[in-house]
Amino acid sequence: MQSTTTVSWNTYAQKYDMLLAFNPFYQQLQQEVMDQVKQWKIRPGDTLADIGAGTGNYSLAMAHHFPMASVLHIDQDAGMNAVTAQKKMVDPLPNHKILSLGVDKIQLESASLRALISIHALYTFPDPSQVLRDMYDWLEPGGKAVLVDAGRMVKVFDWQRALGWHLLRQYGLRKTLEIFKEGKEVSRQNAYIRDMQEKGIFWTHSHEEFCQAVRDTGFEIELSKTCFRGISDFVVARKPAS
Ligand SMILES: C[S@@+](CC[C@H](N)C(=O)[O-])C[C@H]1O[C@@H](n2cnc3c(N)ncnc32)[C@H](O)[C@@H]1O
Repeated sequence: MQSTTTVSWNTYAQKYDMLLAFNPFYQQLQQEVMDQVKQWKIRPGDTLADIGAGTGNYSLAMAHHFPMASVLHIDQDAGMNAVTAQKKMVDPLPNHKILSLGVDKIQLESASLRALISIHALYTFPDPSQVLRDMYDWLEPGGKAVLVDAGRMVKVFDWQRALGWHLLRQYGLRKTLEIFKEGKEVSRQNAYIRDMQEKGIFWTHSHEEFCQAVRDTGFEIELSKTCFRGISDFVVARKPAS
């Protein structure tokens, strides 16, 4: 019998923000997503959502940028949500709400969201196609979605090498070794993710397959490209206005 090591989002949460602090590819992606989000035309009282929102690196930025809208941070992992809540102790953001919910337990009304994002989360969900259909339903006609998903296998050693070069140039050898030591858990959890991708537990897809899945749901695609060193797909989609 094959054994499967399972990613622990709860354990990952303790070191997850090392990605935001030190990983230039994560930083670049966050910038690219926020560049899209900032183009949204949001009215006072609108509701926005981040599905699989992790430690809030995107949902909190959205709440900052749109103080007149409500932002729903939705994630099922208590550890990820606790890290987000800690950040809110420093910066309360009354328009940001954390919902501790599995994606299959979200009960939003049809057409209740003006826009949403889901970043590196769809591939982890038990039924990504159903979640895409739900997202379509939750959005109002004309509503926007920024969807980023890791479709290809994570090559952990290749990533460590690329990151290592970057850190060496930026910080020198001593600090680089310290960062790698502290980031051991990040590498371990990424290896578990790869294992789950290999076993077909997590969704893997080509760029075209991802775009097709988004189109099959009814969305119109406004922009699509690969990102995150080619392992992920970046799609800006829109629910048709009528
Ligand atoms: C790779 S992290 C991405 C976090 C964040 N979007 C980011 O890019 O920083 C995937 C997130 O999906 C969440 N997740 C996994 N399965 C879930 C499910 N069934 N329902 C809700 N959230 C889930 C995990 O807890 C984790 O926070």
